[in-house]
Amino acid sequence: MNIEELTAVANAIVAKQKGVLAADESSPTIKKRFDTIKVESTEESRRRYREIMFTAEGIERYIGGVILFDETLRQSTRDGMPFAKLLSDRGIAPGIKVDKGATALALQPGNRVTEGLDGLRDRLVEYKQLGAKFAKWRAVIDIDEHSVPSAFGIRANAHGLARYAALCQEVGLVPIVEPEVLMDGAHDIERCEVVTSNVLETVFSELDAHGVVFEGMLLKPNMVIAGMKCPKQAGVQQVAEATLRCLRRYVPAAVPGIVFLSGGQSAEVATEHLNAMNAMGPQPWQVSFSYGRALQAPVLAAWKGQESNAAAAEQALLKRSKLNGLARDGKYTRDMEAAG
Ligand code: 13P
Repeated sequence: MNIEELTAVANAIVAKQKGVLAADESSPTIKKRFDTIKVESTEESRRRYREIMFTAEGIERYIGGVILFDETLRQSTRDGMPFAKLLSDRGIAPGIKVDKGATALALQPGNRVTEGLDGLRDRLVEYKQLGAKFAKWRAVIDIDEHSVPSAFGIRANAHGLARYAALCQEVGLVPIVEPEVLMDGAHDIERCEVVTSNVLETVFSELDAHGVVFEGMLLKPNMVIAGMKCPKQAGVQQVAEATLRCLRRYVPAAVPGIVFLSGGQSAEVATEHLNAMNAMGPQPWQVSFSYGRALQAPVLAAWKGQESNAAAAEQALLKRSKLNGLARDGKYTRDMEAAG
């Protein structure tokens, strides 16, 4: 393991104003996204959609890394330039989703665990050869108002994340460690803070036990937020304060950056939350984004599968990236949404 190299890659991804574009939807997930704009999901439509995003002019100022799905890492532009090389040449680190999704955890009703450790070392070696600089593994923590997740459910997911992260660092890929406490459900923000705290404490204890070097990784957590069905929704400032309080308690200062998932928040609200956190002053780590839906929803809406809309789709991605880049400095305001 070359710690200096891992640290340099991790720091470059969360450099000033920059964050991550999560474009690693699996085939069933991208089909769901395409269904919303009535576009058939084929290998070519998926390739073209990603090509529009990856060639969008100007995004390299705000996007330090892009997470790809296995199929996409093997695809190229129309002119035959592999996506990984295109991104690298633009100063954007290509990354790869390596987990194989979540499945029910045996004997732990309501809990799921992420699969994909078998054969992972060999897959990581191949991904590195294909040009990946970092990887992502998502653990899904379901939450209800009472007993889910169980303590063992949290431990099982933390163990999987740590096994994955150690393998990544051994091979020379920066692991993005993603324990996602879901926004679904009716739980309040206080319950989300308790569960997120337990999850982060357990994850860092497992990472440490596995010998993972914190300087050479990134954390991709949920924000501390009320469940979508909770009648009492928290305000922007309350979310920012609860999230930072929780992270400051459980995330070591050695971690270079925190890159939040958007998890079902609207594009505007995800940017507002990020902005509010950065407006609270410097933190031990960079406070940044790794948004999927919150970056791509406006892109899909602009594109609609029509070639004539490609330029508008590029503009939509640049605009969202720029606004999140401003939020990295606490300089975003809602009235910027109206301007082009
Ligand atoms: P969302 O921002 O849409 O939650 O996606 C981020 C991600 O990569 C989930 O694994």
